[in-house]
Amino acid sequence: MKNVTVIGAGTMGNGIAHVFCQYGYHVNLVDVQAASLERAIQTISRNMDRQVTKGSLTAEAREAALSRLVTTTDLAAGVSQAELVVEAATENVELKLAIFRQLDEHAPAACILASNTSSISLTRIAAVTGRPEQVIGMHFMNPVPVMKLVEIIRGYSTSDAVAATIAGVSRTLEKIPVEVNDYPGFVANRILMPMINEAIWTLHEGVAGVAEIDEVMKLGMGHPMGPLRLADFIGLDVCLAILRVLHEGFGNPKYAPCPLLVNMVTAGKLGDKSGEGFYVSDRETRSITVASPFRK
Ligand code: CAA
Repeated sequence: MKNVTVIGAGTMGNGIAHVFCQYGYHVNLVDVQAASLERAIQTISRNMDRQVTKGSLTAEAREAALSRLVTTTDLAAGVSQAELVVEAATENVELKLAIFRQLDEHAPAACILASNTSSISLTRIAAVTGRPEQVIGMHFMNPVPVMKLVEIIRGYSTSDAVAATIAGVSRTLEKIPVEVNDYPGFVANRILMPMINEAIWTLHEGVAGVAEIDEVMKLGMGHPMGPLRLADFIGLDVCLAILRVLHEGFGNPKYAPCPLLVNMVTAGKLGDKSGEGFYVSDRETRSITVASPFRK
């Protein structure tokens, strides 16, 4: 497999394009907005610079990787030669279904259609295509160049051959594939999001402050980031969307999102992407401080 198309040039899409071109694939990155594609190329170049500085990538390998990366706003043209498409658009069911209908129409018949969805049913996505056995979840973790896991989600009809191919492709990216079945939140988010939600309840009920909750989980459990910091990093809107999928999918009130999370998303406080969530983050200075509503 050589030709991979990535749909969506946001945080996950640019990370996925980064690793595919780094490991020798020819990558076509597709987004509806040309400005997002420009930003993605800048981000990938910057993250590769970081790898060059750290010595994990040579300057020549960086140039070669970037030369294998092209972009387009035309989805039909972008997937016409693809052997694998990895969709990483916004986490919205209707949008994903519309994209998969288009992918099914324009991608070659043998092309595998993967989604980086963090919680939407692969079986549902596959059902809008004429090739459900070739549809699979390929769930990367943020930051994609750093995190080792690819959670591979088998939809109801995904074939053994396609699951094996995608596990093999993940290994070529020096990732470790873990195969799971298609139930709400799969494994990663079924466990992660209730923990984040509980951290938000703990804050909401005044049990402890933002920094204290995060310190407990970092120092006590060895997590690299506390749950509130991680929520900002993932995006509070994304956390809320995943909790809603869990809540609706299982019909169990234990997954109901904390009202504080709902309020913050409604107020546009989305975490790092909007500059403020539980923390205020400054992209320029890279400083992170507790946001004013949570200061003591
Ligand atoms: N691209 C390339 N390299 C990157 C990078 C990027 N975007 N971000 C960080 N790095 C590298 C750094 O250069 C550094 O490299 P070395 O080890 O070679 O020095 C290394 O990663 C660590 O980075 P930093 O020193 O800047 O910072 P850190 O030690 O605090 O680590 C972190 C940052 C890797 C993000 C770490 O805090 C961490 O692992 N956090 C948890 C992340 C996590 O849980 N991700 C999953 C989120 S859930 C998800 O994605 C799925 C979903 O569906 C919601």
